[in-house]
Parts: sequence; structure tokens; C-alpha cells
Amino acid sequence: MSSNRGLFITFEGGEGAGKSSQIKRFASYLESLGESVVLTREPGATETGKAIRKLLVEGDKDKFDELTEVLLFYADRRINLTQVVFPALNEGKIVLSDRFNDSTVAYQYYGAAKFKDTSILDTLYNLVAPNFKPDLTFLLDIDVKKGLKRSFDKAATMATKELRFENVETAFHERLRQGYLEMAKKDPERFRIIDASPDEETVFNAIVKAYNDFIANR
Ligand code: TMP
Repeated sequence: MSSNRGLFITFEGGEGAGKSSQIKRFASYLESLGESVVLTREPGATETGKAIRKLLVEGDKDKFDELTEVLLFYADRRINLTQVVFPALNEGKIVLSDRFNDSTVAYQYYGAAKFKDTSILDTLYNLVAPNFKPDLTFLLDIDVKKGLKRSFDKAATMATKELRFENVETAFHERLRQGYLEMAKKDPERFRIIDASPDEETVFNAIVKAYNDFIANR
């Protein structure tokens, strides 16, 4: 059922890494090369996904137990895959996803640190996305304090209520950052670590270079 005819590229990182701006810019870049691009996100790519997103990113940080929380993320993931990602890949498109499964491992396993290992997450992943993984993952890495500051500054200008994860203690964000780096180290074929602390232009150029190297070496 899964298909990988197109290219599935994910953008990952902690809070305030600049993923959302970079992914939009990268989509325009690919389109300028004549590629057909689909932009998606987790959580919240579809109407149902948006309802799930609201449950997940708003409100009290302790409102769900850890299993309920991951079930919601995987329900959203399944919807994103079946309704958006797989159909687009079947048509040969490049799909860019603002977050995917690495976010669950980083936030719910490394960050929240309530699961003893990743076995429950692995099982759920294999159910929702059997034999499927991103072709390429950009990990936008940034110092936690710098990222959280960017995130809160942005939230202040947008009057957003989406601060459930930002409101968790700094140690959570430190753990998830290290978790991401560990995952990237274990899977260097798929991951490209991008230093997200410089200005937007510099970060964008690093992404483009990494992408072009990836395409040249496929
Ligand atoms: P966003 O603000 O980058 O769109 O992501 C929404 C929040 O959801 C962000 O704080 C990270 C969190 N998240 C998880 O905790 N686990 C997941 O699996 C995903 C996809 C997002």
C-alpha cells in the first residue's frame, strides 16, 4: 500500500528551528526547478488532522497520558499518509513534510522520557506506515534556549494558543535535541544535520546544497 515513486522529504527539529519558513522556501525552490511539490505537515495536514492538532498542541501539558498522546499523533500520521503523502508519491511528486515520525521519537520518547524504550512507537509506526520511510530528512538543529526564544517571540506576534509543548521544562527540549542528534548519527544515509542558528538565507543555502548533493549521489 505504501509507495515511494516520488520523493518523501521530512523537516525535523525542536521548537523555533525555523522549519516552517524553510520548508515553504524549499518548496518554491523545487517548483522553480520544475518539480511538482506537495507540502504537508504533522500534526494537522487535513481537516480531521487539524482537529487532532488542536487537541495535541493546545491546553495543559499534562492533559493526556503518554499512550493517549502517541495514539493521537499516529492517528494523525495515518491520515496524512493515506490522504496526502501516498497519493502524491504515487503520482511521482516530491512530498515535503513539516515533521514526521522522528518528531514522535524525539518528543514523546527522548523528551517526555515516559516510555522505557521505543518498542510501542516502533509497533505503531509499522502499523501506520509499513515498509515506508522518508528518503531524506533535514534536521534543523538549534541551541534550545535560542529556539525557544524564537518560538515565544513568534507566538507573541501571532497570539497563538499552540504552546503546549513549548511550556514543558527546558530539560525536555535538551533531551529531545540530543535524541534527534542521536537518531541522525545512527542513520546518516537519511539524515542531514543543518545548523539552524544562522540567518534564514544561510540555513536555506545549506538545505539546498545538501539536497543537490543527495540528488547527485542517488
Ligand atoms: P509544529 O509547531 O512544529 O507544527 O509542531 C507541533 C507540536 O507538536 C510541536 O511542539 C512538536 C509536537 N509534536 C510531537 O510532540 N510529536 C509528534 O509526533 C509531532 C508530529 C509533533
